[in-house]
Amino acid sequence: MKKRIFALAAASVMAMSLAGCSSGSSNSTETTAAQADAAEGADSAETTAAATEAAATGEVANKDKPLVWFNRQPSNSSTGELDMTALSFNDNTYYVGFDANQGAELQGTMVLEYIQNNIDTIDRNGDGIIGYVLAIGDIGHNDSIARTRGVRRALGTGIEANGEIDSTPAGTNTDGSSSIVQDGSIEVNGKTYVVRELASQEMKNSAGATWDAATAGNAINTWSASFGDSIDVVVSNNDGMGMSMFNAWSKDNQVPTFGYDANSDAVAAIAEGYGGTISQHADVQAYLTLRVLRNALDGVDIDTGIGTADEAGNVLTDDVYVYNADERSYYALNVAVTAENYQDFTDSTVTYAPVSNQLDAASHPTKKVWLNIYNAADNFLSATYQPLLQKYDDLLNLEVDYIGGDGQTESNITNRLGNPSQYDAFAINMVKTDNAASYTGLLSQ
Ligand code: BGC
Ligand code: CA
Repeated sequence: MKKRIFALAAASVMAMSLAGCSSGSSNSTETTAAQADAAEGADSAETTAAATEAAATGEVANKDKPLVWFNRQPSNSSTGELDMTALSFNDNTYYVGFDANQGAELQGTMVLEYIQNNIDTIDRNGDGIIGYVLAIGDIGHNDSIARTRGVRRALGTGIEANGEIDSTPAGTNTDGSSSIVQDGSIEVNGKTYVVRELASQEMKNSAGATWDAATAGNAINTWSASFGDSIDVVVSNNDGMGMSMFNAWSKDNQVPTFGYDANSDAVAAIAEGYGGTISQHADVQAYLTLRVLRNALDGVDIDTGIGTADEAGNVLTDDVYVYNADERSYYALNVAVTAENYQDFTDSTVTYAPVSNQLDAASHPTKKVWLNIYNAADNFLSATYQPLLQKYDDLLNLEVDYIGGDGQTESNITNRLGNPSQYDAFAINMVKTDNAASYTGLLSQ
């Protein structure tokens, strides 16, 4: 117990110091040529007029236009190593996501605390083993990997190799003999219980779509048919899959189910026994996604309306995001949503109040943005993220073309970036985190 509290404290100190160094460095190191002009006293109307003209006459090369990656961070899908070539494609390239490790730790802690607080009733078959099953989103997605590790770490079921917890799906492990996970143990009220990951698998459908909710629904049906009495807890890398399992089995069987994303339907389900979820502050991420583009297009300091209030009063505080200048990445911070606080999270598509002020159309004229969602069927992106983007695009005077992919083939999306010259900026959500070059290649032509 003590150890965990220390780990949490250390993590928050780390987040704070990151936040501290980030706001300073974002001011000093992110100065682009356009910003330098503005700083030299060129009046801002002039700067934007010039920018508009440049876009209209096609003067800004596509490779120099603002670019934001979001939700899938350019990185090696096997090692997780960041793709800095893609992240620093030009002076106005950024990534917007959320702090995966902080969120993963929160998710793990939320599940552990639920078990501890409900120890008298949780062991459904009374065998002294707290059994859980885990739905994995995408074995090559760094956020999915972090969540699998976070749960295994908190429950003591992870096996470390080279300082990292193995995030490989365990398959079936009802007898505890797996070499990928191990039995954990927790002691509550003087009694020791075994914690076992009974089964886990990547929820990928036959066509190749990952984070697939329908696949998760099928999996829980299969698992519960053969060892349903041993399943005391259901955990999922996201709410899309979590809700599918909840609706297929755990709701009727009163088995607490935990997800991630705080989609509205999952938050509502907490009243019906869904165990809890994590808000990755999509309201802040969606804002940042479009705000960095707006700032770059306006030729103002990238921190405008982020760490530094803009003229409309939009500003974020460092308890909701961190900026890592080396990684050129903005990360929203996560919040646990449980029976205690879910009333505050019932609508996941409400914009974040401190950054909900309309920008003036005269000083921030309309610009065209090409934006894609890797999978139009992804619950989080379609039910939470995109509705938020559609509210912020109005507030920020951006005209956004939303392109929905099939979740499987990158070319299905890149084919629809046929004429990048029509747009002033780009927001990209790749199918696979390794595939950044498929997009930057098109912009470099
Ligand atoms: C979300 C998942 C989503 C995935 C898509 C994650 O951040 O939590 O729900 O499916 O992004 O890339
Ligand atoms: Ca049991």
